[in-house]
Amino acid sequence: LKVDVSAQNARKIPDTLFGIFFEEINHAGAGGIWAELVSNRGFEAGGPNTPSSIEPWSIIGNEYTISVATDRSSCFSRNIIALRMEVLCGDCPAGGVGIYNPGFWGMNIEDGKSYSLVMYAKSSENTELIVSLTSYDGLQNLSSATLRVPGTSNWTKLEKKLVAKGTNRTSRLQITTNKKGVIWFDQISLMPSDTYKGHGFRKELVSMLLDLKPQFLRFPGGCFVEGNWLRNAFRWRESVGPWEERPGHFGDVWGYWTDDGLGYYEFLQLSEDLGAAPIWVFNNGISHNEEVNTAAIDPFVKDILDSLEFARGSKNSTWGSVRAAMGHPEPFPVKYVTIGNEDCSKKFYNGNYLKFHSAIREAYPDIQMISNCDGSSKPLDHPADLYDFHVYGDSNTLFSMKNKFDNAPRTGPKAFVSEYAVSGNGVGRATLLASLAEAAFLTGLERNSDVVQMASYAPLFINDNDRAWNPAAVVFNSWQQYGTPSYWMQTIFRESSGAMLHPVTIDSVYSNSLAASAITWQSSNGSFLRVKIVNIGFNPVNLMVSTTGLKASVNTRKSTVTIFTSKNPSDENSFSNPTNVVPVTRELPDAGEELSAFLGPCSFTSFD
Ligand code: AHR
Repeated sequence: LKVDVSAQNARKIPDTLFGIFFEEINHAGAGGIWAELVSNRGFEAGGPNTPSSIEPWSIIGNEYTISVATDRSSCFSRNIIALRMEVLCGDCPAGGVGIYNPGFWGMNIEDGKSYSLVMYAKSSENTELIVSLTSYDGLQNLSSATLRVPGTSNWTKLEKKLVAKGTNRTSRLQITTNKKGVIWFDQISLMPSDTYKGHGFRKELVSMLLDLKPQFLRFPGGCFVEGNWLRNAFRWRESVGPWEERPGHFGDVWGYWTDDGLGYYEFLQLSEDLGAAPIWVFNNGISHNEEVNTAAIDPFVKDILDSLEFARGSKNSTWGSVRAAMGHPEPFPVKYVTIGNEDCSKKFYNGNYLKFHSAIREAYPDIQMISNCDGSSKPLDHPADLYDFHVYGDSNTLFSMKNKFDNAPRTGPKAFVSEYAVSGNGVGRATLLASLAEAAFLTGLERNSDVVQMASYAPLFINDNDRAWNPAAVVFNSWQQYGTPSYWMQTIFRESSGAMLHPVTIDSVYSNSLAASAITWQSSNGSFLRVKIVNIGFNPVNLMVSTTGLKASVNTRKSTVTIFTSKNPSDENSFSNPTNVVPVTRELPDAGEELSAFLGPCSFTSFD
């Protein structure tokens, strides 16, 4: 394998090359990175009609002691449903009667940590409530406090900090009383006090994202943006402002309700916290089953211009002031938007696209617009800065796709490979083999990074309790998380964004089993050449790696070799063995212009 490190043959890789794509799928947000512990906090999950679904809220008591219903009596006009609880017993059982919420498959309550409870209640009589964190069966008490609801005809906001005196991974929040009478509840939230930067994100999951050094954050979907039906598409407007006032919505593609605590603002905040450029994918009037005719699309265009004012407008502008009131007077630097998701073949896509495109270009000339139409084989018939490209397939497919962009047009819009993964029927497992095929594909993107500007794996997250789309990069439950081999592979490519790319040549006998790339990159320890080689074959390969044009640099750490392999190509990571398949790095004392490399079967090797 020959690496030409000469300056004249080097090319800079775009700073934006590798980032992440967050979709509200697999409970990635609700019950995932968004740390809210209560599920369906406003009893709104069934929509604005009564009777509404109060799931997963349940009742403590029986038909002789308590009666629970929903009605339209909330103090919040955009989420009008509230819970009406009538306590029938004068002499209630010990502990009282009431309701409990198990969160998302149980709340992770940890010893010594504090949790902020906020809720709204109304009763015509003074009523004492006991709020507690307990085990899933209510038998172990982890924390409890008393709250007093004043007897008035108005709603009262009640707040309490609960400190846990024990750990239980599958806890619940319960609210009970002994007082006979009627009481209404609405908007009940329980947040851990130690979220990332106090912004509401689960720290351990953010930390895994930070380790990827993502250059951009594409959000919030995916199909989540479209909805099966337009009424269930993601609407940014309904997801900003005070959390209590957000109506929430049913994400009908992935089949679950979200309270939209993780809304448009929070996505922008997350991208800032990650140091990643926000890429806002918006609904373009098209869902899986419906389309808005271009003749009627203008209000949708206006809505998206408002979303951009929300992000970028001054704090005195109409929507910028809403952002400022939420705690971010400075604008968020939205420089990219994607017009729809996977909608190129839809009847009104082109017409709608052009309407959005010209309005955004006029109002925000610097915003780069991403089309859903594939420009890799033929030029687009509409103006765009980038085109969106998605690829899922088995490991053979991804491996062979390493050459996909070799013949893509060198002029015109660049590619945004915003979704790639070894995935699909029968192949959807996050194995070592999958990550090797993805690595080969990524070396092809590096090589073609004159026309591929950005790339992200999909999906990013999977809650182990809702494996709607398998696999994903990071697997978690209420208290644990681990990276799949695909996640770990991405950590080895993170330095490529903004690095210098150097040509490599491999003997053509290896074209069906090897893939390689070379970069030079700067770290705090000096300047390094990184040669990455994938061997997806089932035989070992002995290779001589020789470099020309290498300049000596003063580095404060030794050269290293990183090997990513396992006993079996189908090996995976798991909660019980989270580091079964991870890269292992050791020093390489004899690194020079030439080195002999032993590439094990089904392995990835990287020399720094
Ligand atoms: O990543 C999962 C889904 O795959 C996305 O929602 C969609 O864009 C694609 O079909």
